[in-house]
Amino acid sequence: MKRALLTGVLAAAAFVAGAAAQTPPAATARVQVEPGTQPVPPVTFRAEIDYVEVDAVVTDERGNLVKGLTQEDFDIYEDGKPQKVSFFSQVVIPVEKLERFMTDGKPLVPDVRSNAQPFSGRIYVLLLDDYHVGAIRSAQVKKAAHAFIDKYLGANDVAAVIHASGRLDASQEFTNDPRLLNAAIDKFIGQKLRSRTLERLDEYNRTSDLRQPTSSNDGTTGQGVTGADQKILDPLDAERGYYARATLGTLRNLADFMGSIRGRRKAILMFSEGIDYPIYDVFDSRDASTIVSDTRDAIAAASKANVNFYTIDPRGLHGMGDENMELGGFPVPKGKVVLMSPYVTHRDARWFREPLNFQPERWLTEEPARPKFAYFPFGGGARVCIGERFAWMEGVLLLAALGQKWTLDLAPGHPVATRALITLRPRHGMRMVASRRT
Ligand code: HEM
Repeated sequence: MKRALLTGVLAAAAFVAGAAAQTPPAATARVQVEPGTQPVPPVTFRAEIDYVEVDAVVTDERGNLVKGLTQEDFDIYEDGKPQKVSFFSQVVIPVEKLERFMTDGKPLVPDVRSNAQPFSGRIYVLLLDDYHVGAIRSAQVKKAAHAFIDKYLGANDVAAVIHASGRLDASQEFTNDPRLLNAAIDKFIGQKLRSRTLERLDEYNRTSDLRQPTSSNDGTTGQGVTGADQKILDPLDAERGYYARATLGTLRNLADFMGSIRGRRKAILMFSEGIDYPIYDVFDSRDASTIVSDTRDAIAAASKANVNFYTIDPRGLHGMGDENMELGGFPVPKGKVVLMSPYVTHRDARWFREPLNFQPERWLTEEPARPKFAYFPFGGGARVCIGERFAWMEGVLLLAALGQKWTLDLAPGHPVATRALITLRPRHGMRMVASRRT
């Protein structure tokens, strides 16, 4: 291919792509023969690919279409072998602007239609992914979709509006009447499920009474393992999987359909916040592998169909201010840091009897009802202290070795004050007077 020229053009071309090389082996059907009857010759189906049509859109470095190219400007290769170009045609798609009202700039839609002029424009499908847009962001989607129709739909273009949930009452088949398209867009309502994290958090709180502790969580074992470590699954997993598969299926069907339309600029504009399914969590999310393969199918269908995909995320259209979380009834705005205070939690009367009294013996009995993070001197999660086991062992050995021989008392007049660093420390150290045990 003459690459210099390929930096700019609009052309669609059909090429003969080596028919012999493309001919697949004939398929032969085996036929069972009854004993004593004449053998029936096997039935053979022959299939051949005579030509492969390749669409090419050539633009210059500024993205402008390059016109006026001819067949000689293109070379076609398959597996490194040059192919004969048997047919070439240039497709010029004129963008005819809709006339507009002088007063409010709204498009002027003629109420008389004619089929005298054949269809020559671009083809758009607006896929409104109601399964993956939060209800509160429905307005943004409608605004952006209306803006597209009002600004970019030419007088000779056609567009359709499809809702991923398949709502027939709200969909609009191909038309170039902006009023019909806008009316279909107006029916959009996002119905995205609550996030998996929030659902699991609620499930955790709902089921906390039912979970049985598997061992002490009071630190005496150094394990910190409780029933709370049992897996909390997303109660909406099945629905989430269905939504993801439905949207990907719609995308694939659309791409397949658009693939059958030849020689046109065609595009799918997908308004979505993205497929919401944890595809990497294959053990706890039963649809993960199906969704990965559905995604592959949808992408393959789109590239085969030569359809341009444009995705518009309504959350990016106006900042993410409304993407708040709620923890225990408190709103947590996006970007805020949440601190868990061991100092406060370790003095919470719900988990510790007489929390302000020094009662080391409280650790001698187990408190099965205490949740995992009621006691977390070593932190938790991904950044949990890696020295926890060692610290427990070292602490017990030191106390046992010293305590057998010595009694420790605070040095008279020594101030006891705390210093809050990552761990709580004595501000002035702890000066002690050691007396040998008798
Ligand atoms: C009583 C003794 C100890 C206490 C109370 C303690 C407590 C903590 C806490 C609260 C954190 C922060 C966890 C978080 O960010 O959520 C931490 C982190 C850490 N601790 Fe300890 N720790 C102790 C002993 C040790 C020992 C003995 C070692 C090493 C042998 C150690 C090594 C670490 C390290 C490397 C981190 C950083 C982990 C990370 O951020 O990835 N700690 N510790």
